[in-house]
Amino acid sequence: RLRVHYAPISAQIRYFRMTQDELKQRVAMAALAHVEDGMVVGVGTGSTVNFFIDALAGIKGRIDGAVSSSEASTARLKAHGIPVFDLNAAGPLPLYVDGADEANARLQLIKGGGAALTREKIVAGASAKFVCIADASKLVDTLGRFPLPVEVIPMARSHVARALLALGGQPVWREGVVTDNGNWILDVHGLRITDPVTLERAINDIAGVVTNGLFALRPADVLLLGAPEGVRELR
Ligand code: 5RP
Repeated sequence: RLRVHYAPISAQIRYFRMTQDELKQRVAMAALAHVEDGMVVGVGTGSTVNFFIDALAGIKGRIDGAVSSSEASTARLKAHGIPVFDLNAAGPLPLYVDGADEANARLQLIKGGGAALTREKIVAGASAKFVCIADASKLVDTLGRFPLPVEVIPMARSHVARALLALGGQPVWREGVVTDNGNWILDVHGLRITDPVTLERAINDIAGVVTNGLFALRPADVLLLGAPEGVRELR
């Protein structure tokens, strides 16, 4: 009689996680090709970027330092002995490397799953080249399956939520999360974002919104996607 032995579910989950991490590590290593000697590198936030920071540590003698998009990334960079500069002091940056929660083929992104979207958008905006690193599962036809994060001034939470409802989304307060800027996050579910540029502007126009996680006005310049067969590059 044929007997099929399945690994326990915990082992299967561990295997899945390991594979995702391997893809993230692979794509993070590929981003090193964009780092040039003497650069101050803009560094994003998240689990994929953590692999990039660890990879950057291996060549830290070749770079001048980094500008960070979050307290978490700053701590990891400093733990590796990589100097972290204030953006105001560093000036325009040649390169920004960051992850994404979703990306489309036009290199427009949803970001902010880690609540670091505002500083990420600032550093991306101050950088000549934005290299986005992600595992291939993040590539979608239409943005919006991942709930769109919106950073709000705390007193404006209900006002902004009503305005987001009027725009056709279902905002959910990410309770207990306070951003590095002392603000709150609303995650907007149920959006099918066919015009990311217009929606990014419309949400940013709501009083009390600090910024939203659409990176369409300033999309990535290069998208590196980690897949089991290798790293795919979109420009
Ligand atoms: C943080 C972000 C991250 O880039 C995004 O959430 C992707 O994270 P990960 O690499 O862990 O999947 O925007 O605010």
